[in-house]
Amino acid sequence: MIKSKYINSLLEKNKQNVKTIVLPEGEDERVLTAAHIVSEMKAAKPVILGDEDAIKAFYAKNGWTTEGIQIIKPENSPKLKEYTDLLYNLRKEKGLTPEDAAKLALNYNYFGTLMIKAGDADGMVSGANHSTADTVRPALQIIKSAKKGHCASSFFIMISNDVPYIFSDCGVVINPTDQELADIALDAAETAIQFGIEPNVAMLSFSTKGSAKGDEVDKVKRGLALAQEALKSDAYKNLNIQIDGELQADAALDSVVAAKKAPGSPVAGKAKVLIFPSLEAGNICYKLLQRLGGCEAYGPILQGLNAPVNDLSRGCFAEDIVGAIAITSIQATK
Ligand SMILES: CC(C)(COP(=O)(O)OP(=O)(O)OC[C@H]1O[C@@H](n2cnc3c(N)ncnc32)[C@H](O)[C@@H]1OP(=O)(O)O)[C@@H](O)C(=O)NCCC(=O)NCCS
Repeated sequence: MIKSKYINSLLEKNKQNVKTIVLPEGEDERVLTAAHIVSEMKAAKPVILGDEDAIKAFYAKNGWTTEGIQIIKPENSPKLKEYTDLLYNLRKEKGLTPEDAAKLALNYNYFGTLMIKAGDADGMVSGANHSTADTVRPALQIIKSAKKGHCASSFFIMISNDVPYIFSDCGVVINPTDQELADIALDAAETAIQFGIEPNVAMLSFSTKGSAKGDEVDKVKRGLALAQEALKSDAYKNLNIQIDGELQADAALDSVVAAKKAPGSPVAGKAKVLIFPSLEAGNICYKLLQRLGGCEAYGPILQGLNAPVNDLSRGCFAEDIVGAIAITSIQATK
């Protein structure tokens, strides 16, 4: 049992539909501990990449079984050739040579991502010892965006007083264009639905409905217009998504402020999905809420990809990794 009520509720759901999740950082005791927890709960089938003897020794030392956990050393895997060929074929037009493909397939983040592409795993969680860019790049190159031309982005699940919110994008797209901002808002709305959160989406700014002016405000307005236009298409017609902006954070979240600053807005005062105008704003905001505001923060979780690959913070605890596995399993459930 882990502390977060919210993550426990996801783990309970995962038990009904157990997913195979690759953990490429088998050298890390936090990862091994998380794999033990989800395996014991029967909430996921972990596949750990790493040295079998060292991993088994760690489990034995703790009195834990490795039953239910698959351990693969990529260098010795009978699938290595298949994955190398897969990588080469996917990336040869980008200039990847067979020799480079052979080297890259041995990189554990690439190997794990190739397992998903080959259908041997449902999702991956990495990043306890790797940068966001190193974790995310193989997914962008191999798994690719689910919607053609649509930018993949990331979200955090932020939990305040047991209420979950989606914050996006706090992890990937540094300075989104108008269209990327619209893609982020639409994908975050679908993410909210996937996690049982109301898709009430606020596109945040330092302005509410024209209260302030500037290029940054105009960008949010243009992103909003593109997102609202897209909502009219068949792809979104049954989803009941509400997107509004530009809104300041207080107008988005507080009904009293909303009544004054944005009367008539379908979202103001009841937003559950907050879209930030830049990675700078989103990343700083989530960390402040986590460190000073007492919120639980899970992410960055990628959205908009064909299969889930998710990143961890290098300062994470084993419980955070359990949370990431739980979230990844939900995303892997179509
Ligand atoms: C995610 C990130 C690593 C991608 O940058 P990159 O590795 O330089 O990516 P590239 O521009 O070389 O693109 C690699 C591939 O990914 C694709 N790609 C990059 N960003 C993408 C996106 N947002 N959505 C979909 N595809 C994307 C590119 O089209 C390219 O595909 P191709 O090689 O098949 O043509 C980069 O955006 C980044 O560093 N973001 C900030 C991450 C970060 O530091 N966050 C800190 C807070 S957690």
